[in-house]
Amino acid sequence: SEARLWGGRFTGASDPLMDLYNASLPYDKIMFDADLTGTKVYTQGLNKLQLITDDELAKIHEGLEEIRKEWQNGTFVEKPGDEDIHTANERRLGEIIGKHIAGKVHTGRSRNDQVATDMRIFVRETLTKLLDFLATFIGSIIKRAESEIDVLMPGYTHLQRAQPIRWAHWLSSYATYFTEDYKRLQQILERVNQSPLGAGALAGHPYGIDREFLAAGLGFNDVIGNSLTAVSDRDFVVETLFWSSLFMNHISRFSEDLIIYSTAEFGFIQLADAYSTGSSLMPQKKNPDSLELLRGKSGRVFGSLAGFLMSLKSIPSTYNKDMQEDKEPLFDAMTTVEHSILIATGVISTLSIKKEKMEGALTMDMLATDLADYLVRRGVPFRETHHISGECVRKAEEEKLTGIDQLSFEQFQSIDSRFEKDVMDVFDFEVSVERRTATGGTAKSAVLKQLKKLTDQLN
Ligand code: ARG
Repeated sequence: SEARLWGGRFTGASDPLMDLYNASLPYDKIMFDADLTGTKVYTQGLNKLQLITDDELAKIHEGLEEIRKEWQNGTFVEKPGDEDIHTANERRLGEIIGKHIAGKVHTGRSRNDQVATDMRIFVRETLTKLLDFLATFIGSIIKRAESEIDVLMPGYTHLQRAQPIRWAHWLSSYATYFTEDYKRLQQILERVNQSPLGAGALAGHPYGIDREFLAAGLGFNDVIGNSLTAVSDRDFVVETLFWSSLFMNHISRFSEDLIIYSTAEFGFIQLADAYSTGSSLMPQKKNPDSLELLRGKSGRVFGSLAGFLMSLKSIPSTYNKDMQEDKEPLFDAMTTVEHSILIATGVISTLSIKKEKMEGALTMDMLATDLADYLVRRGVPFRETHHISGECVRKAEEEKLTGIDQLSFEQFQSIDSRFEKDVMDVFDFEVSVERRTATGGTAKSAVLKQLKKLTDQLN
């Protein structure tokens, strides 16, 4: 127990398996930077209280910077008894500047406020990076939509052909989801970015440390107002995992659409080689593995959210070791989301579309609503026109015609005398799409307006 920072009151050795079970260093060393920065600012706070002299502070800061370099260069040597990143860094600081001075850095601090601080810094930094990647991703969807604004395709409900839309309208739909994710992430960041430092183990700081000073020094926008909450609140982890889950849900649906569009039966898109793989047996295969992984990896992120909520739900006030279980699900989700954004960006900016296939999949029955609308414009109530248009569809089927546009003018007239010669003008996909100029619609002007608004929201 000599090697352990808390070993004073212990006489018996611990079970080696318990040491392994207890240790978080293998995964929490990812926060080394936040931990060192936290200690730097914390010791400034102690210095303000004259618990550490200027000279000691300078030595501590030099030592911390040396440790930072060791982690960065991969030369930090982990030792038995290094339970987590906090104990490892403190142990190393003692080796570099001497235990006498290093022994002062933890005055009034607990690993409880320390770990909460490190986590919040880490999450803040990761989310800020994700915001950047997300903006690039959305930007690439918008760019594609602008340059392929003229391409039409079927829009689906129930996966059945419904109405013609612009391909750019489909793209803009996902850009809209992802922009909401972007805004939601900004809102979460506000809550993540509050400081627990100076709360002590649970009851508060015994030397009256200036918590606002610590918060400002670490770039937090506020301090957490209650010391018990400061050390035991992991809602920011839950929110981050929920955000990740919802984002991956959008990614998964986006991928599912593209997987369907990439089948030979649809043939609307073709993935770039860079994001496809072949079959070890069937030479002709080109599989959309990137999209399948994007869809599949959503599952593990939802699992991280559900798992951590279960861990958290019965933890009594305040710090309990269960809380260490926040790390692996969070870190895994962050990595998965980051990689997913980058892969999705690659996929969407390199796939090619087959305009002839998209437009070739449009069928005249998809204009049945437009046919109903034709009579609405002539004063017939929609309920009635819906029925009349349905009769036209049935008539065309009975006559084994290729579409409702093949009915003769006389046949239209026999179904309803209010049809006039210009009914034939209805059967144009472009005309149908261009009628939908109302905000949010699929007309060119409406899609361009959507794209502009999305672009503005990212800036
Ligand atoms: N490794 C711990 C964690 O991740 C740090 C906090 C330990 N605090 C304690 N009182 N044992 O939660």
